[in-house]
Amino acid sequence: MQKITIKKILNKKNKMPIVCLTAYTKAIAQIVDKYCDIILVGDSLGMVLYGMKTTKQVKIETMILHCKAVKKFAKKSLVVFDMPYKTYVNKFTAYRNASKVINLTKCDAVKLEGGKKIVNIIKYLTKKGIPVMGHVGLLPQTSTNFKVKGKSFFQRKQIYEDATALSNSGVFAIVLECVVEDLAKKITKNVSVPTIGIGASKYCDGQILVIDDLLGLSDHYPKFVKQYSNLKKVIEKSVKNYVKDVRLRKFPSNKNVYK
Ligand code: KIV
Repeated sequence: MQKITIKKILNKKNKMPIVCLTAYTKAIAQIVDKYCDIILVGDSLGMVLYGMKTTKQVKIETMILHCKAVKKFAKKSLVVFDMPYKTYVNKFTAYRNASKVINLTKCDAVKLEGGKKIVNIIKYLTKKGIPVMGHVGLLPQTSTNFKVKGKSFFQRKQIYEDATALSNSGVFAIVLECVVEDLAKKITKNVSVPTIGIGASKYCDGQILVIDDLLGLSDHYPKFVKQYSNLKKVIEKSVKNYVKDVRLRKFPSNKNVYK
C-alpha cells in the first residue's frame, strides 16, 4: 500500500479526481483509508458527534483525541487536521497550535478557513514546513449566513480573490464549500492547486463529504449531499431486534454462553 503524499495530491490536478471524506473514529478511518486520498478530521465533529450547534465550540484537545485515533488506523491516506475556531488568530498562535497538533497526532497537514485575511498565517506555516489546506466559500467557523456563496458580483469577486490568494500563498489544496457551479469552475481552472468541492459542483478537482451525511446518520441533509446508505434505519432495526430478544429471553442463546 503506497502512502499518499502532498506531491501526489498536487499531481492529480487535471488528471484524476481527488477523493476525500471526513473521519473521526477508528472504525470509519479503517474503511475510508482503503479507498480515499485524503481523510479530513473535520471540526464538523462538533455537530456530528457531540450535538453542538456550530463548530465554534470545538476544542483543540477534542480534535487531537479524534485525530490520534484516525491517524493510528489510516495507513495510506493523507490525514488533515481541521484547526478549530480561534486557534489561528495570528501567525504565532497558529504555528504554536499547528506544531503541537502535528507532534501529538502525526497528522500530515492542517486546514484553515479563510482567504486573503489569513495569507500571512499560511505563508508562515508553510515556511516552517507545515503543509496547509485552504477553505473558502462558506466558512462554518465564522459564517452567520449558511447559504450558497457566489451569487452576487461582490461575493464572486471576493471568493475568487480569496482562492487565488490562497493558491499563491502555498496551500496544497483548497476546499470550496457551497460555491455556485460556474465560480467553482472558474476558480478550478485558474488556480494552480487542486480544489476540493463540497457543494461546489463536479468541476472541482476533488470532492469531500461529511461521512455521517453519506451514511445517513445525520438529522438534515443539504442539497449537495448524496446519501449512499440509511444507517439510522439499519441501527434502529438492530436495536429493536436486540430489545425483543432480551425481553423474550432469546438472547443470550447457547451460542453466546460460557460453559
Ligand atoms: O469540518 C469539516 O468537516 C469540513 C468539511 C465539510 C470540508 O470542513
